[in-house]
Amino acid sequence: MTSGDDLVAALRAEGNLPSDWAEAFAAVDRAAFVPAHAWFDDEDGRPRPIDRGGDPGRWYDAVYSDEPIVTQLDGGRVRWPESSPLVTSSASQPSIVLAMLDALGLRDGHRVLEIGTGTGYNTALLCERLGDDHVTSVEVDPALTEQARATLRAAGYKPTVVCGDGVAGRRASRPYDRLLCTAAVIAGRLPYAWVEQIRPGGRILTPWGTAYRNGVLVRLTVDRDGTASGPVLGEAAFMRLRSHDTPFGHAARLGDLVDTSTIAVDTITTVPPAEVATGPGAFTVGLHLPDVQSGVFYDDPAHYEVLLYHVPTDSVASATVSPESASAGRYPVRQHGPRRLWDEAEAAHTWWAAHGFPAPTRYGLTISPERQHVWLDAPANPVRSWNSR
Ligand SMILES: C[S@@+](CC[C@H](N)C(=O)[O-])C[C@H]1O[C@@H](n2cnc3c(N)ncnc32)[C@H](O)[C@@H]1O
Repeated sequence: MTSGDDLVAALRAEGNLPSDWAEAFAAVDRAAFVPAHAWFDDEDGRPRPIDRGGDPGRWYDAVYSDEPIVTQLDGGRVRWPESSPLVTSSASQPSIVLAMLDALGLRDGHRVLEIGTGTGYNTALLCERLGDDHVTSVEVDPALTEQARATLRAAGYKPTVVCGDGVAGRRASRPYDRLLCTAAVIAGRLPYAWVEQIRPGGRILTPWGTAYRNGVLVRLTVDRDGTASGPVLGEAAFMRLRSHDTPFGHAARLGDLVDTSTIAVDTITTVPPAEVATGPGAFTVGLHLPDVQSGVFYDDPAHYEVLLYHVPTDSVASATVSPESASAGRYPVRQHGPRRLWDEAEAAHTWWAAHGFPAPTRYGLTISPERQHVWLDAPANPVRSWNSR
């Protein structure tokens, strides 16, 4: 059975324990924040129940691993030990928690607003580092809020924990020096309320992504002129803010999405479909098709379908891969509906190649009261923009 010391040692050995956070991390026991009944992903990525009373060895091994622990399914409607792919809360992976805390660049005396309290584990780390009265945390789910409050209290922490939609921030305790969000913002919907509640020079750190691809971490610095701007720091997949979830977020097969008897356009592509959906250019493709969802569905490792779908217009594209199509380098594509989603995605993939195959970290984000845009290399080079709302 692993212990908290094993987790500290493993993170340190891998260079994932920033020196600024070593003391706080060692002081806060993750086991105190993970519920006795939770779920841990198996090798196929499916949440499997873990039980502190029934099988403590497995529970502690999970809790002291550098992996996320699922703590709520489908807003609490799926009760332990039942399972579901609809993960609505989790204790994030410790190395990601630390990387995000490190990227915040906290100093003594800073005041922090956290969005997405979840188990309260991250909140406790912030309290340990800054003191209880410098930490405000907002959780949208009432049951999780209650649970986090009780757990934090039992562990000796008394931050302000509020139940509400974190999209509005928390005006009552503003201004803050830092905002840390632990759920993903969807492209074009970064809340301007967050910018208003941070002091000039302060930072906002949040997971961000398109419906197409989730996602990256962005760090914005708030300017005196009321804008905030900053780079993509790296990749990080997070569950979305609840109001930012997409229809069919948990995917379906082609037949579930569209009446397949409607007229389809059949073509052939020579671009490997998985490259467009999940390859290194997929983040860029998503910027060009931000409201289009994508999924890869395997019949077996050699036979799969890449699905692109846009629910509001009932447009769907499917590209299928088999050993025969892969060896010929020619993949059948079928497109339904008013948008030709495969053609759009392939054009975006070509744009990515023509611009030197940019990695996500070459992009950044700027937000003003009116507009928000994603740029490549510099704010003066916008790739996509939206009205702020
Ligand atoms: C990845 S989990 C939280 C991880 C957490 N920091 C921890 O260490 O346990 C994301 C959390 O964000 C919450 N959440 C989702 N949308 C929200 C919103 N609009 N406002 C506040 N919290 C939200 C979810 O209920 C979930 O508990």
